[in-house]
Amino acid sequence: MEGIDDGAWVAHLAAALPHFDVRHVTAEVAPDSVTHVAMWRLPTQRLTTYTNLEAILMLGAGYDHLELSSLPDVPVVRLIDPAMADDIALYVLSWVIHFQRDFDRYAAMQATATWRSELTPIFAREFTVGVLGAGAIGSTVLSTCAGHGFATVGWSRSAHDRPLEDFFRDCDVVVDLVPLSDATRGIIGAPELTALGDGVLINVGRGATVDTAALIGALDGELRAAVLDVFDSEPLEADSPLWRHPKVVVTPHVAGRSDPVTAAPVIAASVAELGAGRTPAGTINR
Ligand code: GLV
Repeated sequence: MEGIDDGAWVAHLAAALPHFDVRHVTAEVAPDSVTHVAMWRLPTQRLTTYTNLEAILMLGAGYDHLELSSLPDVPVVRLIDPAMADDIALYVLSWVIHFQRDFDRYAAMQATATWRSELTPIFAREFTVGVLGAGAIGSTVLSTCAGHGFATVGWSRSAHDRPLEDFFRDCDVVVDLVPLSDATRGIIGAPELTALGDGVLINVGRGATVDTAALIGALDGELRAAVLDVFDSEPLEADSPLWRHPKVVVTPHVAGRSDPVTAAPVIAASVAELGAGRTPAGTINR
């Protein structure tokens, strides 16, 4: 198995796949001995040298960075690791609580030594968290927030009970987890951000699903805040206005980490499914 760039991945995959010879991509191996590749990104030229390749196992959840049509014609399985979904859900929950409990407003009040204890007594049940994108991670974010008493609503392109603008209007916080595709590029634009009003946008999906110029316009207006973990291009350029906008929180794509400890058994289970002739969860429809 090749395509992994860190010793921990090799060690955990080797432990989870005792019947495989797991090697780092840089190891000397005969290309025709490679049957499975675990990777985030590898050049197509290298993948095509693996003439006996049976499957590509992704080390992350997203796959918008892959040119699927140029990859060898084998199953490509994205990572669906419940532990990663939990990691993202806790990141989101901490920010949801931050805004529901008005910690941003208290910080502003502290700066002017202002004591106002009657500020917006909004309880969790009155605070609506919407998740855009209803995959495994989105479902975990919804259930985690609902489990802490928040009102929740999901919206996906294939399953929704209201138009997108109405969804934004109905939410206090919108969590963007929609996968990036041609259909979702810039799906959050000026109309949606206007409908969100003085709400909060949390983007833990892909930066390009949001129209950044529209976001900055909304933040210069009514929008309360944006918590951004992902960007059009990463790392975020030093001169991006997002770094310095007073209503923006920037984190460097860390909301959900691929952890070899929890991911290796998930990948091993996918390899076993493929070996049994079945289609593992996460197989990308090519
Ligand atoms: C990270 O963004 C991933 O897709 O796993």
